[in-house]
Amino acid sequence: MNTTVPTKPMHIVQLEAEAFKRLIAVSITPDGSLVEITGKNGQGKSSTLDAIMAALAGGNAMPDKPIRRGNKSAEIRVRLAGDDGELIVKRRFTESGTTLTVTAADGTKFNSPQQLLDTMLGHATFDPMAFCNLPPREQVARIKAIAGLDEAFAAIDKKQAEVQAALTAAQARATHAQTIMRASPAPDGPDEEESIADLSSEMEAAHATIEKHRKARLWLDDQRRQQSRIVEEAAQVQAQIKALTDRLAVLDGSSKAIETLINENAPKVAAMVDPDVSGIRSRMSGIEDRNRIARLRRTNREAAKALAEAEADVSRLRRQKENAVAERETVLAEAKLPVKGLAFTEDGLTLHGQPWEQASSAEQLRASFGIAMASKPVIRVALVREGSLLDRDGLAELCRIAEEHEAQVWVERVTNGEQVGVVIEDGEVRGGGQ
Ligand SMILES: Nc1ncnc2c1ncn2[C@@H]1O[C@H](COP(=O)(O)OP(=O)(O)O)[C@@H](O)[C@H]1O
Ligand SMILES: [Mg+2]
Repeated sequence: MNTTVPTKPMHIVQLEAEAFKRLIAVSITPDGSLVEITGKNGQGKSSTLDAIMAALAGGNAMPDKPIRRGNKSAEIRVRLAGDDGELIVKRRFTESGTTLTVTAADGTKFNSPQQLLDTMLGHATFDPMAFCNLPPREQVARIKAIAGLDEAFAAIDKKQAEVQAALTAAQARATHAQTIMRASPAPDGPDEEESIADLSSEMEAAHATIEKHRKARLWLDDQRRQQSRIVEEAAQVQAQIKALTDRLAVLDGSSKAIETLINENAPKVAAMVDPDVSGIRSRMSGIEDRNRIARLRRTNREAAKALAEAEADVSRLRRQKENAVAERETVLAEAKLPVKGLAFTEDGLTLHGQPWEQASSAEQLRASFGIAMASKPVIRVALVREGSLLDRDGLAELCRIAEEHEAQVWVERVTNGEQVGVVIEDGEVRGGGQ
């Protein structure tokens, strides 16, 4: 397929429909940018506008029962023309379904006709007046989509949700740490536990020293007893001194030798000081209590640290949350909206600083048209179904706005037999069709 897709504005130059809804057969060749479809109630005016929607938009724009009662098939042909050439859109309905063809002026058929039409219709709403009457939040949602803000808001929402989750977790950690601290009060006492094993070996060493000293004292006593025995014996020997002089001399010698030993060791032994086991014993007796306190103090210290960290997280995440809110406000403030003077809050649109519903109908219509045409759709056709609400001035205003946007507007209006625009009667054109 070599045919190029038109990019310049296109309008409907001919609409033909047969057996579509209320219509028997119509052929309309518009003249000018305002196409008035008029007639009494129930004659087929809406069916005419619906035919344009069903042919071009397909999908949801198609009615449940498109074929006129009593017929087997229906067909709509829309001839579009613009500076880039012509296209013929043909949609057929039979009992088994619908078919669509889009043909270029040279007779070439496009491969994906609905996709082609969708790109040419863009975001344009077919009915700008319907936009005026949407609930405020729905209007805001459409404007966001047109201004491409949905993604920016989705990203901010996602970030905010993540920050909120992290904040909730940090707050839970803080609460948990506080609970631990309350359950583990920290009385005065040691910060570290003392080793029972070390204290036991210290006790063992002390007992060994005591034993050594005890043996030394026994030995000294022994020596003393031995000397007194010798002295005693010497006294006895004194009586037999004569016979035992030699023996006495020997004993004297021995006595002196032992005395020397005693003199040498007595001061050392006297200076021996026993270690005080009572201190060790008292430390041992209180050790479990003190260690329990040390454990409590450690738990409390750790929980205090966790609390400080969690509190730091909480304030950091609170700041991040505030940043996300600020970011949302910046996006809102910097958003490029399709119409001058148009702005919005989450609750609704404003026009030149006034709430949307306080703007005049003409201002609303002008803005709605601007929104509908914001994406500069190639097929620049708008359908206004509530034309009966507009007086002559309103219609003239609508015509001016349409021309500003190089758009063609099809307006449905109830009339009572007057010859205005294209008159539809009993499913057919009764006047003004050509
Ligand atoms: N498939 C159909 N076959 C026959 N009549 C239909 C079909 N669909 C709608 N109608 C009839 O068309 C009439 C409404 O037509 P419509 O185009 O809305 O009129 P208008 O807009 O001029 O008031 C209703 O009476 C409805 O019953
Ligand atoms: Mg109608």
